[in-house]
Amino acid sequence: MSSLLQIGRSIVNKSLAPIGIEIRRKGHDWSDTANFIPFEQTIAAARAEKLSVGDYVDAQMNGVPGSSQRTIDQMQSMGVFVDPLKRIVEIGPGTGRYLEKTIKLCCLENYELYETSGPWADYLVSEYPVNLQPTDGYSMASTADQSADLVHAHKVFSTVPFLVTCCYWHEMVRVIRSGGWAVFDIMTENCLRDDAMGIWAKSGIRNGSFPSVVPRSVVIEFFTRHQFTLGGSAILPMPPGTTELFAFRKQRH
Ligand SMILES: C[S@@+](CC[C@H](N)C(=O)[O-])C[C@H]1O[C@@H](n2cnc3c(N)ncnc32)[C@H](O)[C@@H]1O
Repeated sequence: MSSLLQIGRSIVNKSLAPIGIEIRRKGHDWSDTANFIPFEQTIAAARAEKLSVGDYVDAQMNGVPGSSQRTIDQMQSMGVFVDPLKRIVEIGPGTGRYLEKTIKLCCLENYELYETSGPWADYLVSEYPVNLQPTDGYSMASTADQSADLVHAHKVFSTVPFLVTCCYWHEMVRVIRSGGWAVFDIMTENCLRDDAMGIWAKSGIRNGSFPSVVPRSVVIEFFTRHQFTLGGSAILPMPPGTTELFAFRKQRH
């Protein structure tokens, strides 16, 4: 069947060539951040390597084995898991490599996901005790005000267009309860020192919003103005460069 399609496409392309038009199979658009990485190929590749999907992304796709566990360890050292976390929201969980590790450290009552990639969202719902919320890409409309103990997003705001980040930060402020946590990473000026700019320029990435940069002062001023206190920050790998992890705690009234 596929060879018949190829023959058909080749005949049509020969007739369209004089007017400069070519029909091609639609591939995965890597620059579309809402679409994430190709689902079936990634699952198959992880299986072939005999790795969990999370370990495959850490080690093979990003070349940094154990990196998602190290981020969870950083969150732990910043105090995020000291009080029992029951109601968690994650934006853009992707393969679930942070989700699987977070669940183990919580007294889970409800884990909500906002995820734009349909195949990955369906996969996570089938694998973990999580609730997928309707995702418009900007809001957490299905999450009640002041209800979440933790809202986190990993390699999301360092990837998506600025206005997605801007809208989700306002939503974080709305849904996190007093004493709750906002945890996320963003590429700040701390990630652009020395030859970091040269490394990104040579990365071969030429379109799309990745990597997305926000000044550190903007991050801190925004959350401070909304009654959050910085619990800690750390530089993490985000090949071919780095990103900065922030943990903010909403002040208790
Ligand atoms: C770079 S990936 C990171 C995935 C995962 N957190 C990780 O680090 O492995 C960004 C994730 O955010 C999702 N995403 C992109 N735009 C989004 C949006 N506007 N709202 C919710 N999720 C989004 C993508 O589908 C993808 O799962």
